[in-house]
Formats: sequence, C-alpha cells, structure tokens
Amino acid sequence: MLLNGKEFSKKLKNNLKIEVENLKKETNQTPGLTIILVGNNPASEIYVRNKVKDATNCGINANLIRFDETISEQELIDEVIKLNNDDTCHGLIVQLPLPKHINEQVIIDTISPDKDVDGFGILNKGKLFSGLESIESATPKGIMKLLEEYNIDPKGKHAVIVGRSNIVGKPMAIMLLNKHATVTICHSRTENLSEITKQADILVVAIGKPKFITKDMVKEGAVVIDVGTNRVDDKLVGDVDFENVDPITSYITPVPGGVGPLTIASLLENTVIAFKNAINFKN
Ligand code: GUN
Repeated sequence: MLLNGKEFSKKLKNNLKIEVENLKKETNQTPGLTIILVGNNPASEIYVRNKVKDATNCGINANLIRFDETISEQELIDEVIKLNNDDTCHGLIVQLPLPKHINEQVIIDTISPDKDVDGFGILNKGKLFSGLESIESATPKGIMKLLEEYNIDPKGKHAVIVGRSNIVGKPMAIMLLNKHATVTICHSRTENLSEITKQADILVVAIGKPKFITKDMVKEGAVVIDVGTNRVDDKLVGDVDFENVDPITSYITPVPGGVGPLTIASLLENTVIAFKNAINFKN
C-alpha cells in the first residue's frame, strides 16, 4: 500500500493555514520564515521556490534573501546575526549546500537555536539525542508523522536505516529509538548490507543512489520509506527500486509524492512552533 506523503502534506498544510489565520487574529502578528540562499545551485533554487510558495500559501511571511556565491564566511555570519536580532523573523534557514569556502556547521550554529527551524544546529540535535523537547529536523519529523498517520507503530520493531547523514539518517535513528524501535544504522561501508536490510520491519533509505535497494534486500511485508531524490534522465528516482520492491512490501513511499512534500510541511510547522515560542503564545 502506498504511503501517500503528497496527500498527507496537503492535509498538514491546510491545518497549518487555519492555525496561522487564527494566530494572526489573536496576536496581530504574522509568523515569519527567512530563507538564505547563497549562489544558484539548480536543486536549491527549486527547493527554495517551493518553500516560499508553500509558506505564503499557509499565511506565513516568507522572506528570501539571496547572496552571491562570493560572499565570505564572516559576511554570512554577520547576516545571520542580524536576522537573529530581527523580531519579524521567527524561523531562519540557510539552504544547503553552501560554497566550499564556507563551513556549513559554523553557519548553522550561528543561527539562534530558537529560530533553527531546520533543527540542524547542535543544540537542537543535542536535545533530540537527550530525549528533550527540540525543534526536529524536517525530513525525519515528516516521516514519523507519516508512520503515525497510517497507524504504523515502531514500538518493538526492527528499524533499519541506510544512510548516516546529520540531516536524515542520524536524527531518524534517534526519533525511531524514542518511539521504542530497535534501530540499526547502515552506511556505505557496511558489510553484508542485504543481510541486515532483510531483517528490517521498517526500512528507511537515505543514501542518494538511484534504485539501490532491490527486491532481494527487503523482507516480505516490510514498511519501506524512500528518502532518495535522484535525478536520472531528468526524472526523479528514489533510492529504492520501487517497481520490483513495491509488491512485497506492506507499505511503501513513492518518489516523487512520498517523503519530499512532507519535509516542507514539517518546516512550516516548525516555523509556527518557533513563532508561538517567540511571542510566548499559549494554546
Ligand atoms: N538542502 C537539502 N535539503 C535541505 C533542507 O532540508 N534544509 C536546508 N537548509 N538545506 C537543504
């Protein structure tokens, strides 16, 4: 059965739109999301365009600030500090990747943890790892919500994650662990990978290799979450060989229309949470 992230994200964004309307009436203020884009990486251009469009549709003030790729690390740090002190900016993200001469983690950790709506900063990551309330990274947060929507409870299940990135793999592992799954993280150097993936009740794949997970690597009845967004011959292809894997799964996310749309919905949710925290709004 398909896990329809596209439909679910529409529902989340509709709910958010209603919440933002009510918040505006009650507070006379508008949640603000600022997105910094350095250079003009084609994939980033598309992501950022969609973030601005969806934020605006939800009633959030979206402010895109662009810099030339020649901007220095220090200049970018100074811009982030300015926005940290701007009361109309409640959520602040810097689209990745950044040019090679800029240290991404330094920039991310300059963002105020209260405005770090990507949840990429060390404080939010540390809180997540410690089981404390935090702003959670958008993609794994969206996946957890999708599982919940389809009544898939990770408790006691063996969740196998392929990919150990700071953005998806690692926070995904912790979120599943916090929901009482038994978690294994695999990566490019894992030996006998298919023996491990075949044990997965829930298999999350975020490795960035088109159709990498084949039918023989998946257990019958598994739940398969495909985070891959690979462009092949101008088409979007996941990390899972969907056509052949789909028939043996109980649930699977398509690409496109699975995990991708949920990332933006979660980012916008995080922006509204950051807004409410900033103005001390109690529900
Ligand atoms: N680049 C690819 N995905 C993301 C994301 O979720 N946030 C940011 N800031 N950059 C990205």
